[in-house]
Amino acid sequence: MRRDVRILLLGEAQVGKTSLILSLVGEEFPEEVPPRAEEITIPADVTPEKVPTHIVDYSEAEQTDEELRQEIHKANVVCVVYDVSEEATIEKIRTKWIPLVNGGSTRGPRVPIILVGNKSDLRPGSSMEAVLPIMSQFPEIETCVECSAKNLRNISELFYYAQKAVLHPTAPLYDPEAKRVTSCQPG
Ligand code: GTP
Ligand code: MG
Repeated sequence: MRRDVRILLLGEAQVGKTSLILSLVGEEFPEEVPPRAEEITIPADVTPEKVPTHIVDYSEAEQTDEELRQEIHKANVVCVVYDVSEEATIEKIRTKWIPLVNGGSTRGPRVPIILVGNKSDLRPGSSMEAVLPIMSQFPEIETCVECSAKNLRNISELFYYAQKAVLHPTAPLYDPEAKRVTSCQPG
């Protein structure tokens, strides 16, 4: 069994990465947030899968590209956060964030990705129409979830999905070099 799970949040500035982490920890929306949340560890007994879980924030203002590269390397799963009310942050998932996470690893298995549409309180409809083509383009995307750090909608669910993506991956992690599925869960 795995010893722990390391979840990294990435995405454009101001999409709400830090707010999501602090909402989960504090169970309320933090009006004021620092650029980057301290790394937190959730003890095994309070996580759904009973595995210690580290949650790691990213801030472009506070971290170098090299630090970002190292964090991606250490992560077991990456949550790419976008703002459902800002289309430009959705486009960057495809043009910037997924290539950054998995672009260098065409050989080995890829890091699973969860797409996280934050600020659902600001948009009545859903962002799924924009996100579905991205999901079909990148098989390493396990799932997508819309949430709101502000009204706490789907916050614990998103971290549960991330934990689950590591412990019970459903998407086949396809290895294009070897032309075979490296990890697959039946059903
Ligand atoms: P950087 O640290 O600059 O990369 O930004 P970030 O992605 O960490 O975003 P941050 O958590 O600092 O939030 C950016 C702004 O969005 C803040 O003003 C938050 O209060 C606001 N915000 C975050 N989540 C939500 C949300 O769910 N709904 C609304 N309406 N605002 C939010
Ligand atoms: Mg931040």
